[in-house]
Amino acid sequence: MEPRLVVLSRGPELYSTRRLVRESEDIGLAVRVIDPLTLTLVVEQDGGKILHGGWPVECEAILPRIGYSITRRGVAVVRQFEQKGVIVVNPSEAILNSRDKLVACQMMVNHKVPVPITAHVGAWEDTGRSVNRVGGCPCVVKSTEGTHGSGVFLVRSEQQARQLVHQMLERGMRPLVQEYIQESHGEDIRAFVVGNEVVASMRRKAHGSEFRSNFHLGGSVKNIELTKKQTEIAIRASKTLGLNMAGVDMLLSERGPLVLEVNSSPGLEGIEKATGVNVARKVAEFVKSDLERRAKEKENSSNNSIV
Ligand SMILES: Nc1ncnc2c1ncn2[C@@H]1O[C@H](COP(=O)(O)OP(=O)(O)O)[C@@H](O)[C@H]1O
Ligand SMILES: [Mg+2]
Repeated sequence: MEPRLVVLSRGPELYSTRRLVRESEDIGLAVRVIDPLTLTLVVEQDGGKILHGGWPVECEAILPRIGYSITRRGVAVVRQFEQKGVIVVNPSEAILNSRDKLVACQMMVNHKVPVPITAHVGAWEDTGRSVNRVGGCPCVVKSTEGTHGSGVFLVRSEQQARQLVHQMLERGMRPLVQEYIQESHGEDIRAFVVGNEVVASMRRKAHGSEFRSNFHLGGSVKNIELTKKQTEIAIRASKTLGLNMAGVDMLLSERGPLVLEVNSSPGLEGIEKATGVNVARKVAEFVKSDLERRAKEKENSSNNSIV
């Protein structure tokens, strides 16, 4: 049987991939997991072809789960599916925008989504002024592209900030200097958005004296109800970047919730375990309703052409 849905993932055994497959099958979708790096893309005028193991890949929808380390190649695969007219849960452009913390911040500011004050530093000599602009020390220095908290540092002096910025620039990284939201006390909020809805939300707390609350750094998670304002901001952030499935991270500051980043392949394990919500089912249902909507549109347009 042709799969209706292809999950693009390098790890069929990963918790999130397994859950998405399981719940999609449970609601009657034929699903297949394909490693995006094993696909052959034939680029030509009529939308091209996508081959896997010697055969063309035919499907109606794809669910991209593109890891950070394969962003460029993974996004090219997603783009090819788009050009073939396949339903794509998170479009290539949206994945790219969300992967770059500077681009994401610019887009959100433009759409009135509140974010921490952030400076993109192009020369280490500008570090001092940048630190002042974001409210002085302590402040946060981070790389524009990064995940799991690995390129994120809390700095206590201007000199330390200068050193970090210098090192990052030397390594070809693009450093950001960001306002430190001290009052969030090593906690942040993850809202899981599917379509126009926050389907689950949790509070993440950093481990010990750590200030980064990432689950991968041993942070603990707990179910919470979002306020109306937090919910609105999370949905607006996800829409602004063009994502239909997103993990929106917010810090609670004295001036209200601030969006820190928006993840286009949010993990399911932490949030399902913390909240008890069947998040994978919500994603599967979203895909199914999109497939049904597309089928209706096709039916209508063929009826119209008969008339
Ligand atoms: N400006 C900030 N103020 C306070 N805490 C921050 C700030 N930036 C990052 N953090 C903490 O560090 C964690 C990781 O930062 P983030 O920008 O999300 O990087 P990554 O993409 O690596 O997860 C956040 O979840 C948050 O707990
Ligand atoms: Mg993060």
